[in-house]
Amino acid sequence: MPPAQTVLSGIRPTGNLHLGNYFGALKQFVQMQHTHRCFFMIADYHSLTTHPNPANLQANVKQVLAEYLACGLDPNACTLYVQSHVPETAELYLLLAMHAYKGELEKTASFKEKARKHPENINAGLLTYPVLMAADILLHRAHKVPVGKDQEQHLEMARDYARRFNRLYRVDIFPEPEAFHFTGNLVKVPGLDGTGKMGKSETGNNALFLTDNELVILNKIKKAKTDTGPKGPGEAMPVEIANLLEISHLVNSETAAYYTGLYHDGSIRYGDFKKHLAADLWNFIEPIKKQIEEVRRDESYLEQVMAQGMEKAKESAGRTLNMAREAIGLKPIYF
Ligand code: ADP
Ligand code: TRP
Repeated sequence: MPPAQTVLSGIRPTGNLHLGNYFGALKQFVQMQHTHRCFFMIADYHSLTTHPNPANLQANVKQVLAEYLACGLDPNACTLYVQSHVPETAELYLLLAMHAYKGELEKTASFKEKARKHPENINAGLLTYPVLMAADILLHRAHKVPVGKDQEQHLEMARDYARRFNRLYRVDIFPEPEAFHFTGNLVKVPGLDGTGKMGKSETGNNALFLTDNELVILNKIKKAKTDTGPKGPGEAMPVEIANLLEISHLVNSETAAYYTGLYHDGSIRYGDFKKHLAADLWNFIEPIKKQIEEVRRDESYLEQVMAQGMEKAKESAGRTLNMAREAIGLKPIYF
């Protein structure tokens, strides 16, 4: 049997996880942990590009770790670690940065968007965000990277950096990593406000979090934008309704199929649909929320998981860095 392929992915500790993170990324992590050699990390270095509050950072890291565990990641089946606990990441980032060009970094969609939103804070870390992400992936010589659709361009860049390094130094150290989703298509879970993807940092009513309670969910769904409804059969569906049905499909495909049918008949009542959707969402979120709260209370377990993950990740990282250092002509220094 060929050796299992390696998987790496990460989520930034910038807030509680939402359904987009779950269906775009985390659900895949849980499924892959038993069939692949998996590394899942909490990308705290990445969160520094937007200057988080130092007082909250450690708590946010633990919260994401608790959410990973509550969703079913098993620290004995995969390696769960915090990015900054493995500073080897920063060394590989430096080595890769020597072959990352300003022009290509400036063209990255995520950089352009962040620079537009925060013109007062266009730092070098933001510009080189994709290089750090490539370092995360190449550090374990990963083949597959389960992520949502918004990360596609970053993955293409990681492939470029892998290929470039191998070619320049005439080695075959880094596999070209692929963005991965079980369905074959990367997913983008829409937000509730009808404007695009569900996101942690979007403000207001946009995201449904794994920590939301029943009332919060009901209120968010009630407030979600709708139109006045179809005037008869066969009317084209507005994007806000399509988005709500897409979310509905994720948590209960029967409800989604039923109300899609009613929409096309022209007989849907949004009030009924929203009540049904909120109930399905709560059914889905409630057990995860309870589990998050339970895991979060056990600080010493969380510390133990982080320490165990750090050790396993450092071993894999040191091996890769020795190869990369040697290829470049630097002395291998990891044992
Ligand atoms: P956010 O965008 O909410 O700040 P992150 O950037 O930390 O979250 O994303 C972590 C993972 O979750 C990435 O793999 C990302 O592609 C995925 N993800 C985030 N939002 C969505 C979404 N709305 N749909 C699908 N996947 C998503
Ligand atoms: N950049 C990713 C995001 O914003 C998070 C991330 C950091 C990541 N390093 C990674 C994802 C490595 C996959 C692999 O969502």
